[in-house]
Amino acid sequence: MYIPKAAQRPVYSYRLSIIHFWSLVFLYIWAGPHHLLYTALPEWAQTLGMVFSIMLLAPSWGGMINGLLTLRGVWDKVRTDPILKFFVGAITFYGMSTFEGPMMSIRSVNALSHYTNWTIGHVHSGALGWNGFLTFGMLYWLFPRLWNTKLYSEKMASAHFWLGIVGIGMYAISMWIAGVSEGLMWREFDADGRLVYSVWTDMLPTLMPMYVVRAVGGTLYFIGVCLFAYNLYKTAQSGQAVNVKTKALAMKPELIHEGDHWHRKFEGRPLQFTVWTTIAVLMGGLFEIVPSLAIESNVPTIASVKPYSPLELEGRDIYVAEGCYTCHSQMIRPFRSETARYGEYSKPGEFIYDRPFQFGSRRIGPDLHRVGGKYPDMWHYNHMLDPQSTSQGSIMPAYAWLFEHELDLSLTQAKLKTFQKFNAPYSDEQVLSAVKDAQNQAQDIAKGLLAQGAKQNIHDKKIVALIAYLQRLGTDIKGEKKDK
Ligand code: HEC
Repeated sequence: MYIPKAAQRPVYSYRLSIIHFWSLVFLYIWAGPHHLLYTALPEWAQTLGMVFSIMLLAPSWGGMINGLLTLRGVWDKVRTDPILKFFVGAITFYGMSTFEGPMMSIRSVNALSHYTNWTIGHVHSGALGWNGFLTFGMLYWLFPRLWNTKLYSEKMASAHFWLGIVGIGMYAISMWIAGVSEGLMWREFDADGRLVYSVWTDMLPTLMPMYVVRAVGGTLYFIGVCLFAYNLYKTAQSGQAVNVKTKALAMKPELIHEGDHWHRKFEGRPLQFTVWTTIAVLMGGLFEIVPSLAIESNVPTIASVKPYSPLELEGRDIYVAEGCYTCHSQMIRPFRSETARYGEYSKPGEFIYDRPFQFGSRRIGPDLHRVGGKYPDMWHYNHMLDPQSTSQGSIMPAYAWLFEHELDLSLTQAKLKTFQKFNAPYSDEQVLSAVKDAQNQAQDIAKGLLAQGAKQNIHDKKIVALIAYLQRLGTDIKGEKKDK
């Protein structure tokens, strides 16, 4: 809508823009499972997500082409008008990221790209390039009109544009390189069939230079945003806020469509429009959610999978609160490279007491689904206090405060009760003795650590719960040959 206004050219095809809108609204929700390929999600949902993601390519590119064709005949203006520059940048990034997205939703590509920096690059080219630039362009266009004046500095806006473009370029390219390198290193075997990069920190030297490039790119983009804020502030100061009638900002009919189109009238009825849009969105959601709710056997239960102990449950909440899931996944995919690195691949039935689940979406550190029992408690104690002491060159932050903050058990009982409501088979006695059980388990762990030379008795500190949780992860099916 802003592009025709800024370019003073009618939209290339009004009809195409309607098709663009409705097909995006309808298709996008179906595409959701492309974030969970090769995970414990049902196969049919994964396939549906992949197919719909690829279908999205058509409306996305239709929209991009419509936008670029709207500029036919005014490309000379793009050279001088910073607002149009932002819009052209936004449409181009829209086209590129909506091409990249469907490609990444193809299973074999996703097997390489998922959990790596590639995804980080992809979402940032969308967020900074497409949505960011679109927002800048719109606000540069609006401010002078709302304050009845001229933009304070076109030169500054142009500088913002170039800083932004160079910034995103550095960001996206460095993350591609880092992502593809990571994906390849994770799966590289030597001639003897052993993982070449079995030590996680061995991969960091390859990635660090890319992180530096990303930081520089992000900083350039941010400097641009500061110029943008200053420019808008000065623009508002130089003018007088006017009470603009929405009609004055509304689209002139000749910029949309010659003659009458039935859809135009529809757009003037916000309530109807909202209802129909919601229905279009819900359709995809229902198709994917209803079968999962209706068919109980969708999640095959595993007899040996039990709910967390009260202390582990507290540890899990600390894991969530500290944001460990931003760097660690808990989902081992069924690839040789993953089972060799982490152990048995993850089964849906293992997550039935995980609410919300901690699948994660990025592996800055290794997957943790089977970390339980991998190391002694003392290793975790040292690692959380100072990651470099156990893992040379680690970039994991230290969590020293977990050794100082008191473990709060005041809600433990209520938490067990809540899980009981969600079918976790805690007995009423277990709920009643939750606090005592947690304290006992904490004492056991703390005593064991003291015996191994720990400096501190951590029985009433948060860290004890976190260690209990980590040691439990993925252990329920250990020793079992096959699940059902
Ligand atoms: C900034 C990213 C980052 C965050 C946040 C993070 N980690 Fe890590 N983690 C790493 C990296 C990188 C490694 C690999 C190097 C090492 O062992 O320290 C790692 C390793 C680990 C390991 C050892 C895994 C193995 O199989 O060797 C555990 C356990 C762990 N982290 C737990 C946690 C917990 C618990 C939290 C939250 C309190 C957390 N991490 C937060 C990056 C992170």
